[in-house]
Amino acid sequence: MAQVSDVADNQPPQTKTLRIARFNPEKDNEKQFVEFSVPVEKWTTVLETILDVKQHHDHSVAVRYSCRQATCGSCGMIINGKPRLACFTKVSELDSDVVTVEPMNNFPIIRDLAVKFERLFDTHHKIKPYLDREDTELESDAKEFLQSPEELEKYIQFANCIKCGLCNSACPTMATDSSFVGPQALAQAYRYVADSRDKGKDSRLKIIDDSHGIWRCHFAGSCSQVCPKGVDPAMGIQLLRGYMLGFRS
Ligand code: SF4
Ligand code: FES
Repeated sequence: MAQVSDVADNQPPQTKTLRIARFNPEKDNEKQFVEFSVPVEKWTTVLETILDVKQHHDHSVAVRYSCRQATCGSCGMIINGKPRLACFTKVSELDSDVVTVEPMNNFPIIRDLAVKFERLFDTHHKIKPYLDREDTELESDAKEFLQSPEELEKYIQFANCIKCGLCNSACPTMATDSSFVGPQALAQAYRYVADSRDKGKDSRLKIIDDSHGIWRCHFAGSCSQVCPKGVDPAMGIQLLRGYMLGFRS
């Protein structure tokens, strides 16, 4: 006998309106929204509706994606006003008949939903996102740098960052200071400063102790509200400030 949940699962697809921001910086002065009707089932993601449009209506819509499983960090965009991963956002959870997709804020637009990631990757690279130490023990077959569970706990949530840029897109300081290092890079700076294996703390701290660095953050906290991986960049920034002010455990 059919269960109630089975009946619900077999419901025919609904139709929703997908509004896509179209913009080509080489010829347009402003974004134009184009609407499409898209079929949606309860598990349909926003990315799948965009790919439906590309397949059946307009293949020229520009969107970046790869893994489709919230791992590569490619598909960030503004969905109904909030920075989210398109592959990790089900249309059903938006609770709206209209889904509006726009490129992420605080990133230059390549075209439509695809943005340039250079600033994100440059600032990430700038904070030296690797274990910095002079010795070569890691290259030895027999050696490991052991850590206690307590030492691991200090940085592990920050190691979950997938460099999607949603936090930078949500950050009001990124919007007003084009040289601000940003919450993604600052959280990663803390990730390595808090790692007991790292020996490059002082040089890394010098990099972010600058007029466009860590002190520029005014703790809006919007970065932490949008992270799809449970990273809390705002907390990382506060812990890093504490470390720089001498509070070291
Ligand atoms: S901290 Fe979160 S929101 Fe920011 S880049 Fe990393 S995964 Fe994305
Ligand atoms: S496609 Fe990889 S995170 Fe969405």
